[in-house]
Amino acid sequence: MRLGDLVTPALLVDAALLEANLTTMAAALPGPRLRPHVKAHKCTALARRQAAYGHRAFTCATAREVQGMVDAGLGDDLLLANEVLDLRRLRGLEARVTVAVDSPETIQAAAGAGVAEVLIDINVGLPRCGCPPSGAGRLAEMAQRAGLQVRGVMGYEGHAQGLADRSERARLTEEAMQLLLEAHRQVGGDVISAGGTGTYDLNRWATEIQAGSYVLMDTAYAQLDLPFRQALGVLATVISVSRDGYAVCDCGLKALGMDHGKPSMEAGHQPLLVSDEHLTFAVGQPVKVGDRLRVLPAHLDPTIAYHERMHVVEGEEVVETWAVDLRGW
Ligand SMILES: Cc1ncc(COP(=O)(O)O)c(C=O)c1O
Repeated sequence: MRLGDLVTPALLVDAALLEANLTTMAAALPGPRLRPHVKAHKCTALARRQAAYGHRAFTCATAREVQGMVDAGLGDDLLLANEVLDLRRLRGLEARVTVAVDSPETIQAAAGAGVAEVLIDINVGLPRCGCPPSGAGRLAEMAQRAGLQVRGVMGYEGHAQGLADRSERARLTEEAMQLLLEAHRQVGGDVISAGGTGTYDLNRWATEIQAGSYVLMDTAYAQLDLPFRQALGVLATVISVSRDGYAVCDCGLKALGMDHGKPSMEAGHQPLLVSDEHLTFAVGQPVKVGDRLRVLPAHLDPTIAYHERMHVVEGEEVVETWAVDLRGW
């Protein structure tokens, strides 16, 4: 199949750039030093590529992702790094599944679903999930009393990830990890899980890094000083050209995660307006109706979650098509 055969909007993965990202990360964080987060791509075929590069343990955000990874034979060591109360999907899974807990309720949910192992999730500065470090020991004891094995702690320094200033990113990461280590002193265990694409080489305290976006990247992360390249684009078709210097392509809000801002475009085009099914752009190099162009999303995760499949391309050739099979909850 060729690019011209695809129905647009279509997710494209540049095969060479993907390989480069996989290689760079595997060299920096080999094997179990990286626990890739599959929420970024929601694709077991891509997770298999990461496993081929030596990373056999994965991070998930939903019970559906855990179940899908197990079904795909990638269940060696899965961490559900999120507070999920309805864990019915995890019942009876033949895999090593560890769940993050931060309250008596989430401990009960894990124990009730027959989960064997947990991490105590610590709030290290991002106002999201996680208990305060001072509460970690008490929760660990509670988990043990409920029959759960406590493997250690996790704490995601999400507030540091996107900071443009590397030294500020490093400072916030260190501050966050001091909180995580404080919790770990109470909880013990082998696992200190943290980190993401923005801090993958700054976080020296975690035993494993949960980066996800590195593998495909987006324009938000591309602003930072990272060695990973934008491998993901959305192929769009020009559907209307105005005499007033703008044109429209068929890559709207339903094909593009917009929470990190407008996408980037090639050939000097500038995005002006994004609505449900349309992206209106100021024309750089001249375009005509029917032309195809690539739009680079600002935020990878929600963009992929809108699509059912992604196409791996080498130049104009579609060499593989992968299902985005971990969608849903
Ligand atoms: C729990 C957790 N770990 C790690 C990450 C890092 O992901 P990424 O590398 O895509 O920023 C995230 C992203 O939101 C997350 O929620």
